[in-house]
Amino acid sequence: MEIFGVDIGGSGIKGAPVDLERGDLAQERYKVLTPHPATPEAVAKGVKEVIDSFDARPDRVGVTFPGVVTGYTTIKTAANVDKSWIDVDARALLGAELDGLPVTVLNDADAAGVAEMQFGAGRGRKGTVLLLTFGTGIGSALFSEGVLVPNTELGHLELDGHDAERRASTKAKEDHDMSWEHWAHRVQKYLAHVEMLFSPDLFVIGGGVSRKAQKFLPLIEGIKAEIVPAQLQNNAGIVGAAMAASRG
Ligand code: BGC
Repeated sequence: MEIFGVDIGGSGIKGAPVDLERGDLAQERYKVLTPHPATPEAVAKGVKEVIDSFDARPDRVGVTFPGVVTGYTTIKTAANVDKSWIDVDARALLGAELDGLPVTVLNDADAAGVAEMQFGAGRGRKGTVLLLTFGTGIGSALFSEGVLVPNTELGHLELDGHDAERRASTKAKEDHDMSWEHWAHRVQKYLAHVEMLFSPDLFVIGGGVSRKAQKFLPLIEGIKAEIVPAQLQNNAGIVGAAMAASRG
């Protein structure tokens, strides 16, 4: 069975056929820029363009979304995309755009987490594992004994009186021209807060910035849990989406 994963992000919509045995892309991924405004119709067209760029037609498609997704179907929040997504049945919308292909939709961090737990930094890890993705926002995926608790949204915890992702996302670092030291200090404060609430055994740090883990992870101190960078990096969402799609 041919399964594709597509990752809808703030800047790009990227996808590829996925090899679910290896937990890796079966072909190089294809990316289109996220339309602005990122309305449901415009994004659905972007997803179609990504799928149509490949010769094979998939049997199923998994799609990540940067917000709460209930029942692998309905969008409930849209912090960093167009608000008109709220309450959209994304499974139906994307399925119709893709000429009836079965579509599974899930939160982007949850998808990345599922892939990391199976094929990456969380492989074989028991106890409580928290994957946090740092990018335009902060995403979270919470696992207890390997089982995902979906839609945790820990990026929106309050930190110093602000939405945490406004203080500690990669976007906040860029917008405020923060040094690695300054940003690492904020991430440390955020991790300490999350640790106080969840006492995880392991933090997995994902998102594009995980490629630069050596620039900031060594600067983070005083966290009891082990902290490791994600291993699948930018492909985790695509792989995790395909994994979810393969389960129907
Ligand atoms: C959204 C989350 C998402 C995260 C990363 C947050 O603003 O609320 O659902 O996982 O950004 O994209």
